[in-house]
Amino acid sequence: MCGIAGYVGPREAVTVVFDQITRLEYRGYDSAGVAYKNGDGIKVLKRAGKLSNLKQLLDSEKPKAQMAIAHSRWATHGGPTDQNAHPHFDQHELIAVIHNGIIENYYELAQELKARGHTFKSETDTEIAAHVIGEEYEITGSLADAVRRGVKRLRGAFAMVAICKNEPDTLVAVRNASPLILGIGSGENFLASDIPALLPYTREVVVMEEGDLAVMTRDRIRLEDAQGKEKLIQPMHVDWNIESAEKGGFEHFMLKEIHEQPDAIRQCLSGRLLKDGGVQLLNCFSDEEWKSFERVVVIACGTAYHAGLMGKQMIESVLRVPVEVIYASEFRYNNPILRPADLVIVISQSGETIDTLVALKLAKEHRAKTLGIVNVVGSSIARECDEVLYIQAGPEICVASTKAYSAQVATLALVCLQMARKSAADQEKIFNLTRELQRLPNLMETCLERESQIAEIANQIHRAPLMFFLGRGADVAACMEGALKMKEIAYIPTQESPAGEMKHGPLALVESGVVAVFASTNPLTREKVISNIKEIKARGGTVAAIIFDSDEQTAHEADFVIRIPHVDSPPIGAALSVLPMQLLAYHVARLKGCEIDQPRNLAKSVTVE
Ligand code: F6R
Repeated sequence: MCGIAGYVGPREAVTVVFDQITRLEYRGYDSAGVAYKNGDGIKVLKRAGKLSNLKQLLDSEKPKAQMAIAHSRWATHGGPTDQNAHPHFDQHELIAVIHNGIIENYYELAQELKARGHTFKSETDTEIAAHVIGEEYEITGSLADAVRRGVKRLRGAFAMVAICKNEPDTLVAVRNASPLILGIGSGENFLASDIPALLPYTREVVVMEEGDLAVMTRDRIRLEDAQGKEKLIQPMHVDWNIESAEKGGFEHFMLKEIHEQPDAIRQCLSGRLLKDGGVQLLNCFSDEEWKSFERVVVIACGTAYHAGLMGKQMIESVLRVPVEVIYASEFRYNNPILRPADLVIVISQSGETIDTLVALKLAKEHRAKTLGIVNVVGSSIARECDEVLYIQAGPEICVASTKAYSAQVATLALVCLQMARKSAADQEKIFNLTRELQRLPNLMETCLERESQIAEIANQIHRAPLMFFLGRGADVAACMEGALKMKEIAYIPTQESPAGEMKHGPLALVESGVVAVFASTNPLTREKVISNIKEIKARGGTVAAIIFDSDEQTAHEADFVIRIPHVDSPPIGAALSVLPMQLLAYHVARLKGCEIDQPRNLAKSVTVE
């Protein structure tokens, strides 16, 4: 995820802010830059690639300044290039801006600004924001007022910092959903997008709240709320060490990433799922092309494959368009049948998985239209596909994938809604899918608030020699993912399958001590699942059931109950049930003392076939 840093005070400012973004390096980035007051103007230095590239530039320029901002970028709008790196100037190069997050209405704003003669040097939404603030500065002549007025014209989730050549010792910062933290010094002040960047300089911090705006000079910070009312500065003292600060206070990156899911989904849907329920997938196939697809073929590995299975559930049930989901490692050797009206969707968090890349190339040889659903911007798979939708989940550090899975499913839901425009789709299902997708981040928050109950269940079942993960319909797709998490990080053998298949063989494995995790989120199959629960219990197995808050019937049968909020769209309900499964795997692994962030034998990016 992008990193923000800012400093004003007596030290050499560029050195301070460069050091600050170095401390955010662990979060991943693909370009970086700084801006500082230089003579009469503002100088911007930026480079794609590693921080060492920027460092070389800084070493040759030897900047001297008492106020600077810096940014490390993880590309979302526009690839990782020198031009797209932050900071960005306004039209007259008076103001420089750095920004994390996404400006949803950047496209409309860019059209307006172009009509007024503005020209842009990058492909980023940030440069559009800088031009908007620049326009407001022309009217107000005050940086703080320009930011105040400018952000009212922006829609989205973002944190932003601006400096102005005419106000050489002022930083103006605004927070709208994305995090921003002020660091309080004596005769100097700091800001950053994350606490580790501040710790070497100060441990007195103020976490800006939603809608807050800060005007920072070396001796003073004026903090105001979204209505412009001044707020009292009440710093909190941070006594974390640097390592736990990198994990945001969580014990492992996996837990941090599990908890980042509501925000990851907000980012993923931002600007794409509109308030009125419409879907806008910019620069991704023409309407004619979307209408022409008669079948979808999904190619992926591991967790991404499981996201594809959830996509199949959505697209087939809502659109009645057939979907085939194929393991990338199998695709190439199975003489695949591809037709001209097929849409091939390739899903990959890293964008570098070699099995998936090779399968993609083969699909292209068959002249199929290809769509990448990818997290890492500019990765090989993203570059190779005809079109790409970035899931915008931010960097995933833990080897076991969590937030990327949820964002892949959300992106597939957007594809489903986009395709729904053409077909004789089931309107009630579209309505429910849209509404529940809009609610998904909040629903996830509710699930995560119940973590302590899941930790308690983990305590009761972590010695199980074998775990089943069972469901019906979309819940099977969720169980496949839940079981993979349990295998990967807790090293417990699992069997995942449709619940109805148990009696055709696997039931022979059930005995005392064996645990079956059931996901049951579809009222239409509830009674059948209850019968399957009884089959397990009759043979001495222990049952943990993930069910809706309202489902007393299933609760009555299970040994342990994990509740999730009621959802009216089965694939979204099932996708939500994956969060408790992630938490269950995490807490079981933790109790077993496993190496959670880097499980044995596994790698984050699999570049061998
Ligand atoms: C599981 C996991 C893997 C990946 C798989 C594909 O937690 O992370 O199963 O999902 O290796 O990786 P990507 O999505 O990078 O192609």
